Amino acid sequence: MEAECVVADDAEELFDASETFKKSALLSSREQYAALYKNSVDDPDGFWSHTASQFFWKSKWEESKAHTENLDVRKGEIRVEWFKGGCTNICYNAVDRHVEAGRGDDVALLWEGNDPGFDMKLTYKELLDRVCQLSNYLLAVGIKKGDTVAIYMPMLLELPIAMLACARIGAVHSVVFAGFSAESLAQRILDCKPKVLLTTSGVKRGPKLIKLKEIVDDALNRCVQEGGHSVDYCLTYDNKLAIKREDTPWKEKRDVWWQDVVPNYPTDCPVEWVDAEDPLFLLYTSGSTGKPKGVLHTTGGYMVYTATTFKHAFDYHDGDVYWCTADCGWITGHSYVTYGPLLNKATVLIFEGVPNYPDAGRCWEIVDKYHVTIFYTAPTAIRALMRSGDEPVKRHSRKSLRVLGSVGEPINPSAWRWYFEVVGDSRCPIADTWWQTETGGFMITPLPGCWPLKPGSATLPFFGVQPAVVDENGKELDGECTGFLCMKASWPGIFRSLYGDHARYETTYFAPFKGFYFSGDGCRRDKDGYYWLTGRVDDVINVSGHRIGTAEVESALVAHPLAAEAAVVGIDHEVKGQGIYAFVTLNEGVEYTADLKSSLISTVRCQIGAFAAPDAIHWAPGLPKTRSGKIMRRILRKIASKQLDDLGDISTLADPGVVAQLIEFTEK
Ligand code: PRX
Repeated sequence: MEAECVVADDAEELFDASETFKKSALLSSREQYAALYKNSVDDPDGFWSHTASQFFWKSKWEESKAHTENLDVRKGEIRVEWFKGGCTNICYNAVDRHVEAGRGDDVALLWEGNDPGFDMKLTYKELLDRVCQLSNYLLAVGIKKGDTVAIYMPMLLELPIAMLACARIGAVHSVVFAGFSAESLAQRILDCKPKVLLTTSGVKRGPKLIKLKEIVDDALNRCVQEGGHSVDYCLTYDNKLAIKREDTPWKEKRDVWWQDVVPNYPTDCPVEWVDAEDPLFLLYTSGSTGKPKGVLHTTGGYMVYTATTFKHAFDYHDGDVYWCTADCGWITGHSYVTYGPLLNKATVLIFEGVPNYPDAGRCWEIVDKYHVTIFYTAPTAIRALMRSGDEPVKRHSRKSLRVLGSVGEPINPSAWRWYFEVVGDSRCPIADTWWQTETGGFMITPLPGCWPLKPGSATLPFFGVQPAVVDENGKELDGECTGFLCMKASWPGIFRSLYGDHARYETTYFAPFKGFYFSGDGCRRDKDGYYWLTGRVDDVINVSGHRIGTAEVESALVAHPLAAEAAVVGIDHEVKGQGIYAFVTLNEGVEYTADLKSSLISTVRCQIGAFAAPDAIHWAPGLPKTRSGKIMRRILRKIASKQLDDLGDISTLADPGVVAQLIEFTEK
């Protein structure tokens, strides 16, 4: 692990919200925040019990004991519980509650298709009907509380509907991003063994057609062959705009067209009341080994945390139209497309397409079309749009925008400034939200209106969040410092385990620094207490805001019949933040050719998905290893970024000569 100090080019530049903004903001001063923050850490049970009481609970937890936790491996098993004994249902709170309060005619979901001109909307009442019909279908095919349902769908309205339908009946959803390959989907299905898979015939992403059902069939075949697991049903949404039914591969009995069965079910379905600590979903994320981790979130704490963070970080007001460009296949889509906003009764825009299709003005056209007030995206999208210049932005009014958000990776100050000045007309505060799949919701984030922003800093901790910056020995550092970012105490949204592998949960997150949750990120805290995230310090690369384990890419590369060994590192990439740079050793006697490079890249696409394709392949006659056989990535990173005169100490290598060979191969 290496912590790095990244000093922003304009660390002291401060941006404060306007007086007009502050006047209507939910919270508008650092003092107000400080008082609430103090209360949240001095009395977490009281603070979160009070916050949780705005939701409907069939029965309550004991308020003075809202949570119990042990985050210290030296004291036994790691365990976190929030609102245990409280009974609730997140679907009820996100949908029924608003309908019962007389707001059933308010728009819940707006849908904008990949191609301009295709759109739809659902009111909260209509959403409830659709959710109930799907819940009834799931019940009818035998899904019960605690069963896992896998979902592999693009950004159709049916995706959040599917998540809510599972939650309604206490089933555990496991959404797999529909950009993952058959192999990755199969790996995830084999881990969580769902009885039912919800999917779609196909989807258009930009100009490209993706035949999802073909990928699904391939994955399901692999599951049978490799793991002896078959799903009972594969409910397939017929996406007529993308592909015809007759062009969709089909397996009778197992495969069912969504539109043929689901609408026949009743539009009411009783809610399954679950314990706050009953599982809500699994979401696989990458770690430093090849095997993805099934991050397990439970119901009550996650519900309270996502709703509260959404409300404050985006200064949510009734009537806001909210658009998050993330896909529901990632945590951002779980917490801040589906649950957080709907729990607040927001109007949520779901966009099927990509930001630059058919042109670089699409996002702003959509903002104007729906009068979007809160816009949340990733630095990689901002940088990509920035490249097309200001004109595609300026040709649209964007007057409705009030708050902007950023997530997924550190935002470089120049992209921050462009986002602020050009997209937001210097009017909209930017919530640079630092968090993770594991944290469930925002951890370090501006609360717009409360304190001045510094471009590139996620600023201060959310209520109840107690960061600690530690050195390599796990000693907590004071004041201004640089080190590893940890958390000292639990918060309601923290994940409770890794599915089927609690030991890995403990060793990955709690063993490195005893007594703390370790985020895997490095950070710096400045004199004002602001946090500056400096990226991952483990073997994880952040490509376009997507977390990819180097080990995953390496094992995909060596799956190629001609590859002997591979080592992958991240390199700076102008748009994607980080790119994937792979060193590959071929089998004895195999010729190093350009065709072979393409073939290796397509192997990774097939094994993981297009988003994980290496940006560069560097032929490696040998890899720099220590005498104990550990690959020295530090050296590989330097070679990849062409810092050849700064390789550091190479004397501890088993064969230092390897380095010269690698440098020689740079040009091949
Ligand atoms: O390195 C941090 C980076 O993304 C990682 C979490 O990735 P994932 O679990 O896929 O969740 C992405 C969406 C929350 C973190 O460990 N990261 C996320 N947001 C930021 C960030 N780095 C800096 N600033 C951010 N705002």
